[in-house]
Amino acid sequence: DIAYVNGAYIPIDEARVSILDRGFLFADGVYEVAAVIGGRLIDNESHLSRLERSLRELRIGSPIPVSRIAEVEAELVARNGLSEGLVYLQITRGAAAEREFGFPAEAAPTFVAFAQKKNIIASPAAETGVKVLTVPDLRWARRDIKSTALLAQVLAKQAALEGGCQEAWMVDQEGFVTEGSSSTAFILTGANVLVTRLNSSAVLPGCTRKAVQVIAEREGLTVEERSFSVAEAYEAKEAFLTSASNLVLPVVSLDGRPIGSGAPGDTSRLLRRLYIEWAT
Ligand code: PDD
Repeated sequence: DIAYVNGAYIPIDEARVSILDRGFLFADGVYEVAAVIGGRLIDNESHLSRLERSLRELRIGSPIPVSRIAEVEAELVARNGLSEGLVYLQITRGAAAEREFGFPAEAAPTFVAFAQKKNIIASPAAETGVKVLTVPDLRWARRDIKSTALLAQVLAKQAALEGGCQEAWMVDQEGFVTEGSSSTAFILTGANVLVTRLNSSAVLPGCTRKAVQVIAEREGLTVEERSFSVAEAYEAKEAFLTSASNLVLPVVSLDGRPIGSGAPGDTSRLLRRLYIEWAT
């Protein structure tokens, strides 16, 4: 497998960054994940514009123009012969001579990227649906920035796995779902209204969410951008999650309670199919 490190393409086990890199010491960096289907990056303009925003919000310089980042991603897809999977890219504030909290005057950003094979379309979870566990949202207040500081999400996902689930939905102090540990949360109400949280600093603005919203509205569905409580989600007719790595995945249970019939819902399955058509 070939990775990219600051301008060079090298075998992934030989790829190295400094232990003084601020990504390693402080999680002082941002990342993006885009799906690859049929050798093509999916919805990548959306991911790259979010990357630009994350960099700007943290005042990290882009090591190369963002238009050239797409070339690096395409080169990784080609060099790895990747047909279906993900491209991960990460930009940190770089390595300074010493560990100091303030921005170093002269550090150059570190840019790494790699590709990973994954069955995205023929995913077994798309057929069975996923089980979700709710956990308290322990994250910081700027969740709109796609930062590499993911410890709360790591713990959330691990709690889900240990509870026999595949994803965690994080819940704010008022009892409202923010989002999944690495996905956007949606429910379908009894009145056939799709509900997902309004974009704000409380959640990451999902690229897949945005596309799914447009597709759903084109199908005549109403999408309400508002908070929903765990109690409301328990009573939902359907639920699903969206992310670059899983596209649209039906949710079949929440905290052990079946959602709807306990099987992937029709609207969730329809939106998955329409998203794949749109993306490919
Ligand atoms: N995660 N919310 C969070 C907290 C996420 O980490 C992600 C994506 C999403 C969905 O965003 P998008 O549709 O743009 O992928 C929502 C990526 C896939 C990850 O961390 O692996």
